Amino acid sequence: MGGPRRAVAIVLCLLLSAALAGAQFLPRGKADVRAGERIYKSACAACHGQAGSGASPELTAFPRPRTFPDFTQCSQTTSEPDIFWKAMVAHGGRYRGFSQIMPAFSEALTPEQISDVVGYLRTFCRNPHWPRGELNLPRALATEKAFPENEVVISSAVNARGAPGVEAHIIHEQRFGVKNQIEIDVPLNFEDQDHTWRGGVGDTTLGLKRVMFSSLRSGSILSLQGSVIAPTGNRSRGFGSGTTTFETFAAFDQLFRNNSFVQFQLGADLPRHTDIAPQSLFINTAVGQTFGADHGMGRLWSPMLEFLARRDLVDAARTDWDILPQMQVTISRRQHIRGDLGVRIPASNTAGRPVQLMLYLLWDWGDGRLNEGWR
Ligand code: HEC
Repeated sequence: MGGPRRAVAIVLCLLLSAALAGAQFLPRGKADVRAGERIYKSACAACHGQAGSGASPELTAFPRPRTFPDFTQCSQTTSEPDIFWKAMVAHGGRYRGFSQIMPAFSEALTPEQISDVVGYLRTFCRNPHWPRGELNLPRALATEKAFPENEVVISSAVNARGAPGVEAHIIHEQRFGVKNQIEIDVPLNFEDQDHTWRGGVGDTTLGLKRVMFSSLRSGSILSLQGSVIAPTGNRSRGFGSGTTTFETFAAFDQLFRNNSFVQFQLGADLPRHTDIAPQSLFINTAVGQTFGADHGMGRLWSPMLEFLARRDLVDAARTDWDILPQMQVTISRRQHIRGDLGVRIPASNTAGRPVQLMLYLLWDWGDGRLNEGWR
């Protein structure tokens, strides 16, 4: 118990002291929107239109890519961090695996002018309540994040010691409205049980998340989620709990100026039949930092360390502690395909809880199809 707590304290101190260093993802200073407007009208409006929704196709000859932006649609624009847009304006569409019709302006515009014109692009979305993509922190292997996402994740945990077994999850997350997201999580289990491999579906989760608060200025976002975990798994094979469970959690994520971050998730699992499955509380924490090639515009590497605690609400229960070091990396040029690899190490109550190799592949389908954005 003391070990993990001390480690959390040390990591938090390091992050807070590093937080005083330079900026990348969070905006530093204010863009000059008036200057940005002048640049936009002379260099961008011919293709993107005076109103930001695209120039009239009759007046422009270029073929429209499927992903051609309408800057007035908050649903399309707010999930894109400024740095992704700056990368495209500076280096052209090809740089992020988009159409080469979007030209590069790094010769014509200074970095300040690019900031100004991106600041002007932001004025086309008139609803300030959409959470901004800068707050979409790297997904950790266990800790759920606060940002609502359009993504498909295939994750798996493989027992590195103890009984051979694999648990995979197919997770679909989809946003709706300004602040909401639904999530469906179907687990698949494969286990060597007395020298016979058995497989089966586990308990399926249907969840609803809602952002309660988000602020780009302070770098923070808070969400609540409620889920129903249906007993679709075979209990006698150990793949399911045998009862419907209501799960609820709060997720709070904080991004600092130097691209380090902390993600907290605090929740409870409340089964309907507590005689066969106990109620439990959990607190998950992920701390990490994102490093980007090319001043944060290129491939992103995010080392993270998770501290996971779970305690059953029964007499004489002890807390299960796990630590989970990992590395997330963007794989496609567009950064809409990401991978994460880590090792989950039980730190208390280790009997029957094997060390696990964990990994996922993530597809942010709002940003493009699987085969798009590689070159
Ligand atoms: C020759 C036409 C043309 C000009 C001029 C042009 N763009 Fe583009 N821009 C495009 C096209 C086409 C795309 C869509 C690329 C794709 O989706 O594959 C695009 C995409 C973008 C995107 C990405 C939006 C997203 O969310 O995917 C940004 C940001 C952008 N342009 C900003 C600008 C700015 C700022 C200027 C002026 C400094 C500018 N563009 C000038 C054609 C142009």
